[in-house]
Amino acid sequence: MTVRFEKSTAHCFSVLASGRCRTVLVVAGVIITVYALLSRIDEFYHQQPPYALKQSSKPTDGTDWSRFAYTQYVTNSLYLCNSVMLLERLHHLGSRADRVLMYPEKMLPDPETWDDGGFQDAELLIKARDEYGVKLKPIQVQHRETVDDTWSDSYTKLLAFNQTHYERVIAIDADVALLKHMDELFLLPPCPVAMPRAYWLLDKANITSRMALASHVMVIQPSEREFARIQSRVERAADDEYDMELLNKMYADTAMVLPHRPYTMLSSEFRETNHGLYLGSDDAGEWDPAAVLREARTVHFSDYPMPKPWKKKLTAWDEMNIRDLEPRCEVKRSEEEEEDCSAREAWRWLYSDFRERKAVSLLKKLNVE
Ligand SMILES: *[C@@H]1O[C@H](CO)[C@@H](O)[C@H](O)[C@H]1NC(C)=O
Ligand SMILES: *[C@@H]1O[C@H](CO)[C@@H](O)[C@H](O)[C@H]1NC(C)=O
Repeated sequence: MTVRFEKSTAHCFSVLASGRCRTVLVVAGVIITVYALLSRIDEFYHQQPPYALKQSSKPTDGTDWSRFAYTQYVTNSLYLCNSVMLLERLHHLGSRADRVLMYPEKMLPDPETWDDGGFQDAELLIKARDEYGVKLKPIQVQHRETVDDTWSDSYTKLLAFNQTHYERVIAIDADVALLKHMDELFLLPPCPVAMPRAYWLLDKANITSRMALASHVMVIQPSEREFARIQSRVERAADDEYDMELLNKMYADTAMVLPHRPYTMLSSEFRETNHGLYLGSDDAGEWDPAAVLREARTVHFSDYPMPKPWKKKLTAWDEMNIRDLEPRCEVKRSEEEEEDCSAREAWRWLYSDFRERKAVSLLKKLNVE
């Protein structure tokens, strides 16, 4: 076949004078030119922006998903790593909204001219942009002198209210494991902010006490006006008033409440003996750790005195806590002597899944643990 084709082209070139060959060549030439033109036009209309999403963000169901974004804020290298993991999850789970990472300006000197050498933080940011379709937004860390410096940078979270390029954003803290995306929350009825209850803080003995709102998962309508209001409130904040206290004071009466089931839970729930607050019912028989983990969209790593799963070097005290405090297997009364270890399995999975994803999400060559 090939030989014959070569032979015939050779033949054509050698006998250009032949009328039949000339016609074939002219027709072929026209076809090639038209094809080349068409493919250039096609290329022009289908070129991808440098940080194009792998999944289509084009409206497939009439919804313009580019109006919506998940936001992450970063104040230091440790949490940058967690944020990139969470954004990788959204990418992997096929969320249709944008993904925005607000990072301290100094982490990436100039995203356009940066020459691909140098700092680990910058490399991770570039990886997030190029592989997970993340939009990078340089910011100034919002810092205040506070009583407990664990949260002195946490006001940075409130910059999500300033992402006015979007109609709605979902802000999730970086110490949260995202198990499923929550794109449907972008379509909630209008409200300045929607937050779940800090269900674990409910004082059951005091039904007049109002349950606080949790700020680690928030659906926000960015707005210049709201942001200005928040900023002036931050300036007047007491030195023991952090983002959660502040948001509760501002929005306790007006926020839409997201049901904590399924939107969020604490990792410590698997170690509790009474699950009434999480379940919202006293029916202990309803507690099924595997089912709960399947329904949860996010799990907040909050499990004192357990070490956080991103902690690099465990102390002897950490090791002791893991050994002594991890959820126990329970002996079911109905079945003879049969042990139920589902809480422990769910809990262990949560921690090991985090460590595994960390290895997958991050550049191995960066040597990020
Ligand atoms: C809020 O957003 C505006 C517009 O993008 C920007 O100019 C301003 O610096 C932002 N404010 C803060 C505190 O980041
Ligand atoms: C119940 O909660 C309310 C509001 O938080 C508080 O003012 C009140 O003192 C509490 N009552 C008791 C008995 O703790």
